[in-house]
Amino acid sequence: MIPPPPPATKEALRYKHALYAGWESLKERPLSTKTAQEVCSVLQARPALIRSTPGTYIGDPATGKRHYTPPEGKEIIENHLANLEKFLYPAKESPYDPLTIMAATHYQFEAIHPFYDGNGRTGRILNILLLIQSELITFPVLYLSSYIVENKARYYQLLREVTTQGNWEEWLLFIVEGVEKTATSTLAMINKLRDIQSTMEADIRAAGITPAKELTDLLFSSPYLRIRDVEEAGLVKRQQASHWLNSLVQQGILLDHKVGREKFFINHAALNILTA
Ligand SMILES: Nc1ncnc2c1ncn2[C@@H]1O[C@H](COP(=O)(O)OP(=O)(O)O)[C@@H](O)[C@H]1O
Ligand SMILES: [Mg+2]
Repeated sequence: MIPPPPPATKEALRYKHALYAGWESLKERPLSTKTAQEVCSVLQARPALIRSTPGTYIGDPATGKRHYTPPEGKEIIENHLANLEKFLYPAKESPYDPLTIMAATHYQFEAIHPFYDGNGRTGRILNILLLIQSELITFPVLYLSSYIVENKARYYQLLREVTTQGNWEEWLLFIVEGVEKTATSTLAMINKLRDIQSTMEADIRAAGITPAKELTDLLFSSPYLRIRDVEEAGLVKRQQASHWLNSLVQQGILLDHKVGREKFFINHAALNILTA
């Protein structure tokens, strides 16, 4: 038996599922209120309802100090969402740059704050989905959330300044700078992964394992593998897969790690880059 994952791991997994559910939905229909609701429901593992009772606010629950109180009343919230949808659709004919649309949408979504909880995380997933929809990225790889979390105080301050002073310019610049910084660091990460991938492929080939390329690709499709993953990928039978992975551990290319009765083979070089 594998022990249940800790809460932070569960949270990360739900985030991933929500992002992928949103990404899938873009193949069916353009980004809409429904997408937000779907994403938020997966995030929380229960249906996300539009707020219908008052009392939600952004502030300090300890002191009761409110920084922002979102609109109240289900119908009012739904009208705001409908307006936001009109602004978004059809994005291709919009006079605005996709990054401007993303920045404006993010503020609007957070200000409407349609759900009881999960609005921040849902809004950050919508950012990525908008970049995919406007074809600026093909895969959901631009992890803008880390920039937002690292600059949380400024992010909160600027959200507030848009509300109180209409300070759209600073807000827009903040988001655009986040896209630049995240894109640069993501690209550096991808290049590092590619470098160690080709080194590892050469090492695996030198160890006499064929097909070296397919096994390396598999080792980079996820930073950890079980014997049965190699078998299920159709590379070799179980016994040979076990022999391969254990010999790569002996050579220091992989690390092994036992969880319950499962043995995981960890591509620690890749994992270090991904978690740096
Ligand atoms: N002044 C503000 N105006 C509008 N939205 C805000 C403001 N301050 C914070 N927020 C947004 O509210 C989010 C928190 O709302 P919440 O529903 O609890 O989301 P989550 O549970 O995902 O953190 C923050 O992450 C931020 O995006
Ligand atoms: Mg919350």
